[in-house]
Amino acid sequence: MVLAGSAVAGCIIHDSGGAGSSSVGANQLPASTLRPLRQAGAAANRRIGTALMSARLSNAKVRALVAREFDSLTPENEMKWESIEPQAGRFNFEAGDRLVAFAGENGIRMRGHTLVWHSQLALFAKGLKADPLRAAMTRHINGVVGHWKGKIAQWDVVNEAIADGPSGELRPDSPFAVLGPTFIDEAFRLAHAADPSAQLFYNDYEIEGEGAKADAAFALCKRLKEAGVPIHGIGFQMHVDPRHWPSADVIRRNFERYAALGLLIEITEMDIPIGAVPGNIDEKLQRQREITRDIVAACVAVDKCSGITFWGLTDSDSWYNDARWSQLRGKGPHYPLLFNGDMQPKPVVSGVLEALEKAPPK
Ligand code: XIL
Repeated sequence: MVLAGSAVAGCIIHDSGGAGSSSVGANQLPASTLRPLRQAGAAANRRIGTALMSARLSNAKVRALVAREFDSLTPENEMKWESIEPQAGRFNFEAGDRLVAFAGENGIRMRGHTLVWHSQLALFAKGLKADPLRAAMTRHINGVVGHWKGKIAQWDVVNEAIADGPSGELRPDSPFAVLGPTFIDEAFRLAHAADPSAQLFYNDYEIEGEGAKADAAFALCKRLKEAGVPIHGIGFQMHVDPRHWPSADVIRRNFERYAALGLLIEITEMDIPIGAVPGNIDEKLQRQREITRDIVAACVAVDKCSGITFWGLTDSDSWYNDARWSQLRGKGPHYPLLFNGDMQPKPVVSGVLEALEKAPPK
């Protein structure tokens, strides 16, 4: 139901009430004129991904849109420890299985997210001493990675292990800290043993540019590589904050230092919330298009950058519709994703296409 409409820069934004509300006018491109993202991505040798909750697969329009536009898929929550093994040794694979089956039917690569993370961790695993936690981590990684052996191309093995702020240390408050800093090495070795064909990633946020956290992530990956730990890539979450974000040049240079280590680069959770961007809705959407185009171009400029995943499908699905997360990016609504609440492509989609189409032929 359309409750309200406000005239903005000559076009009407219909607001059906929430941050992810459907909208027309500035926030929509004529879909029929656009090339599917995955087709443009394939021509540039890059995967284009979305994150999804399995319940969304019951909607035929969602299935059709995902299959048309994307060739990489990440479960938004359903492979996290608290969802997949809420009680010790009791695994819930159904939701993940549905996503993996859908991906298989549509030629979509799966990214598994995530094995070892301080957040969304099962209650039973919090506060364990070193030995039982090590046993739990071993069973968890064997159980989950083993279940989808050969079907999940990439795993985010360890997520967000580095502390925020200037320390450059691992998070002291992580339940995994009792294992010592080499819990990361152990997790990668376990995942590799469980599925030697999977590409294994370290994934984190606010490591995209310069600074203590970015350098700590790089030092960690370098140490792991040099120690012969089976790490194959670095995941940059890329939850953009347009109020302060590294330039695309700085991001590209950061990508290059990981490429020099021999690691793959994936943008794993991109979204571009624009609530706090100055200007009217057209200006905000243009800024979103520009930021996204330039970041995709940074990926396209670095051979080792193999894919770009957006953290949700439509503005109505975004985690920023939850006030807890939304306020991290200033006042909403944030319209952070590629498709509007009516599942129509937004101006940002043409920015992604523009950057992909500039890639040298593969
Ligand atoms: C988010 C999900 O989108 C939300 O639904 C959930 O409530 C919290 O987690 N970094 C990550 C993702 O690695 O797993 C997070 O996903 C977003 C931040």
